[in-house]
Formats: sequence, structure tokens, C-alpha cells
Amino acid sequence: MLQQRSVEVGDPVSSEIQQLVDDMFDTMRHYEGAGLAAPQIGVLKRVVIFGFEHNSRYPAAPAIPETVLINPVIEILGTEEEQDWEGCLSLPGMRGMVSRPLHIRYTAHNHYGEQIDHEAKGFHARVVLHECDHLDGILYIQKLTDIREFGFIPELQYSERYTPPLCDSSEK
Ligand code: NI
Repeated sequence: MLQQRSVEVGDPVSSEIQQLVDDMFDTMRHYEGAGLAAPQIGVLKRVVIFGFEHNSRYPAAPAIPETVLINPVIEILGTEEEQDWEGCLSLPGMRGMVSRPLHIRYTAHNHYGEQIDHEAKGFHARVVLHECDHLDGILYIQKLTDIREFGFIPELQYSERYTPPLCDSSEK
């Protein structure tokens, strides 16, 4: 299921989508994720959520407003990329080094039917790109920079480039 393409949502304000968004926020908060895509809870629809004030899985990350994207479209701005450690609630306890575009624009609707049009950089852009990849059945492990910089967190601590999260005890 995680490797399938999700389908477009016809009506972003339907009660079915409201329920889905509620379930996704419950799941994301429970696992203290930075973001979540609908296929991660078994629903193959093009819906992602993200956002937090402070995130224990990525303690150095800046706050991102809580956001719902339905049928998101991403435009990559510029050619600059950035490498950073990435994890996924669907691959518990692991991290890998992934290169992502630094600067993006994303457009979507939210579950109130509002149009979203936003530019993001750095970690914010990374989260959006990671979650939207889930909608196309793509996991971050398909984008690893170097297989040696991928593994379970305790093993990665031997890697010179690994900068361990300050506290990652919430990883389940
Ligand atoms: Ni993920």
C-alpha cells in the first residue's frame, strides 16, 4: 500500500475527508511525527498533514504551522539542494541522509475548501516533499544519498556525519 499511487480527492470538504484529517492528526500526534500522509494509515487518497510547535523527533527543526494539503502540487524553485537526515513513521527507528530541493512552492486545497499557495525552504520544504512523495508511493529510502548513511539510529551513531537528535525517545 505504501508503494501505490494515491487518488485525487473529489470533494475536500466532505465528511469523509474531515474524518480522515482528524484520524491523521491523532496518529501524527500520537507518534510525534512532523507530518503524515493518508496512505500511511491505509487510505490511498491525496491528503497530507504536517506541522508542530516543537518536535521531539527533530528537536532542532523550526516550528511549522499545522497544515492540511489536499491534492497538493509542488513546484521546485531554483536548483539548490540540501542534505539532511530524514526519518519516517512507517520505518520506525531509522534515519537516512537524503538530498532535497531547498526551496519549493506548494499549492493545494485544505479541508475547509480554502486554496493554499505557499513557499517553503529547508526543513519545511523537506517535510512537504517527503509527505507528498508518499502520495506517489515513494519512500525516502529510494532517495538515499549513500546507503552507508542509512540505518537504525543506534548504528548510525558510528557515522561521522550523524548528528543525533537531542531526544528521540518518542520513536516507536
Ligand atoms: Ni514518511
